[in-house]
Amino acid sequence: MTEHYTTIRQRFDRLAGQYLRNPITHWVGRSELSALREMIPPLKETGKQPVLDFGCGTGRVTAMLLDMGFKVTGYDLSPGMLDRARAELGENPDVVFTSDPKAIQSPWPLIVALGVLDYYEDTTPLWQEWKRLLSPSGTLLVTAPNARSPLAWFYTFLSRFTCQAYVTTPERLMPAAKAYGFTLIRSKTVFPQRQWGHTLVLGFQLNTP
Ligand SMILES: C[S@@+](CC[C@H](N)C(=O)[O-])C[C@H]1O[C@@H](n2cnc3c(N)ncnc32)[C@H](O)[C@@H]1O
Repeated sequence: MTEHYTTIRQRFDRLAGQYLRNPITHWVGRSELSALREMIPPLKETGKQPVLDFGCGTGRVTAMLLDMGFKVTGYDLSPGMLDRARAELGENPDVVFTSDPKAIQSPWPLIVALGVLDYYEDTTPLWQEWKRLLSPSGTLLVTAPNARSPLAWFYTFLSRFTCQAYVTTPERLMPAAKAYGFTLIRSKTVFPQRQWGHTLVLGFQLNTP
């Protein structure tokens, strides 16, 4: 595990107890979840489809995906966050939580990563990992904090006290995304739904080789 991953894991292990109680996370999260839900490709009629909730944290997105009828694997660096997720949702037979990268190797048709890009000034390791995990033509849905939001400086400043976050734009993300074979297929800005909204919600497709 890289030093940066270790820092993120330690920070979120420490935050796990308060994460769900943070009113801002809840408030902004409602808009993010609803935009994400709209971008999720409709389920095929046969069987439960698998989805990887990458950086699942305490299971906020996992709960939505379960509600939509998916079979979910929640993966996170932080065992502390996963303990909370298990306590909330662990009884459900359609969900597995893990912090073991070896347990998520199978190619995924759909990966969702809400609130993960935030913590990477250099996003390359994430694109690299998502390319490895997605199946050919798979869909990746992510969020990132918008550098064009008037809240950007406030968000980055406050994050020093939790886990340092970095704001971005689709233009800044695209070179690394493209280098790993991703094409941007959907883009929305929420909180509010304006170009300067706080969160970018982005849908990517992995180009078939
Ligand atoms: C802000 S929380 C978001 C949690 C959840 N997705 C949600 O929306 O409530 C970010 C989570 O991403 C996890 N994370 C960050 N980088 C990761 C990586 N490379 N692999 C797995 N988990 C990661 C952190 O440990 C943390 O739990």
